Amino acid sequence: MKSTGQIKAGTVSEQMPSKEGCVTPLVQPWPLAGNIGRTALGEILSGDGAYVTDAHGRRLIDGPAGMWCVNAGHRNSALADALRDQAMQLTYTSPWYTSNNPAEKLAEMLSDRAPGDLKHVFFTTGGSSAVETALRLMQFYNNVRNRPEKKLIVSRQGSYHGSTYLSASLNGRPRDLDWMDDASVLCRKLTGPNPFHRPAALSIEAFEDFLEAEFRTMISQEGADRIGAFIAEPIQASGGVLVPTPRYLERMRAICTEHDILFIADEVVTAFGRLGHIFASKDVFAIQPDMITFAKGVTSGYFPLGGVMISRRIFEELRRSNHSDAMFAHGFTYSSHPIGCAVAIRNIELLEDGILEHVRAIAPYFQKRLKSLESLALVGEVRGAGLMAGIECVADRKSKNPLQLDLEVGKRIDKHCQELGLLVRPLINMCVMSPPLVITTDQIDDLVEILRQGISNTMDDLVREGLWNG
Ligand SMILES: Cc1ncc(COP(=O)(O)O)c(C=O)c1O
Repeated sequence: MKSTGQIKAGTVSEQMPSKEGCVTPLVQPWPLAGNIGRTALGEILSGDGAYVTDAHGRRLIDGPAGMWCVNAGHRNSALADALRDQAMQLTYTSPWYTSNNPAEKLAEMLSDRAPGDLKHVFFTTGGSSAVETALRLMQFYNNVRNRPEKKLIVSRQGSYHGSTYLSASLNGRPRDLDWMDDASVLCRKLTGPNPFHRPAALSIEAFEDFLEAEFRTMISQEGADRIGAFIAEPIQASGGVLVPTPRYLERMRAICTEHDILFIADEVVTAFGRLGHIFASKDVFAIQPDMITFAKGVTSGYFPLGGVMISRRIFEELRRSNHSDAMFAHGFTYSSHPIGCAVAIRNIELLEDGILEHVRAIAPYFQKRLKSLESLALVGEVRGAGLMAGIECVADRKSKNPLQLDLEVGKRIDKHCQELGLLVRPLINMCVMSPPLVITTDQIDDLVEILRQGISNTMDDLVREGLWNG
């Protein structure tokens, strides 16, 4: 079935409107000014494995695993025990003037598992603070090395790196910065490696050549001595699960090496099992980053924790500095939090005790089943890797026109799916699937069939409302 239809533009909002006049003290992320303080999102009461239960008593497959984070699944008693046991043993100790056993042990485990010489780890409170830490470390590194001009940070369109000022300044998704200030003097953006939306005349190979040439042109225009870091999600997750062209990351890595630009892999989503490995940079994409940022799946969402893996080379160069007073004045009250670290240790044990293997075995089935949704006229592309996938809806497959669509299409699909038993992560005209890694083949079948029905119902609605002519 092929669509040539057009859909009229609708309104944009990240959150469902509240009931008329309903004012809520709780402010949730990404509110619209016109609805701020009045958004009431559906409450989730409990979770179990790959499922959550909402306030209406509906049992839903947790399609996005919270926010790509509940990797080991909900209500895992081993993780709950690790959390409780550590809280009863030692709740907290200051990372400024003490250390603690879970943090030391987790650092060892991560240092053993991270690729190459990524032997050091700095723990943070989540993904944004991990990215912020990597960027501030790059700035410090270049100050100490007497290269104070080498500070520009290069990111890509379609990226998401966080909500702190500097990390947010690197975001490249449509609308993220429209009404927000950013540190644009420090940041530059390249075209994202989005094969689906590449210029129609370019083959995949020619598109990769273009992306490489664009980076090289930027470097020659800005000057390599002014660019400190390149930051990339191996798969752009919140941008719609954009899997790069095959050699793209290797080629960008090579350019960074050539120009002494630090390559930061933002693995906040891709690490800890989502792609079947603890870290994906080397095992999946064959690249050796200078730093890897991580969060989310490190604790399967049972405790807020993030961190940065840092190359031994960076630390050796810092130690060689002759600025004995130079201090990396950076850290968080909850850096190296003993409870978060204890949960992460147990979580890694669980991942290595079968979950990673399960992901590697089941991922082809997950991708194949979801790909079958491309038979629906509204679906332009289904793409993904491991247990993450993006379903992109288009008004017209020929022009791949996404945003002439009703911009609430993802939300419309989510609404139907919730009625049928599936929680979807709607992203404008896309739906993102990244279920708990413990999902079974039967549950994948249910997920795909509910999604198919949810998209079909949405297509019927759009036609009935005169927004799309199929
Ligand atoms: C790739 C990536 N980096 C950073 C972040 C920010 O993480 P957090 O929300 O934990 O601050 C996210 C969040 O979704 C992310 O997907």
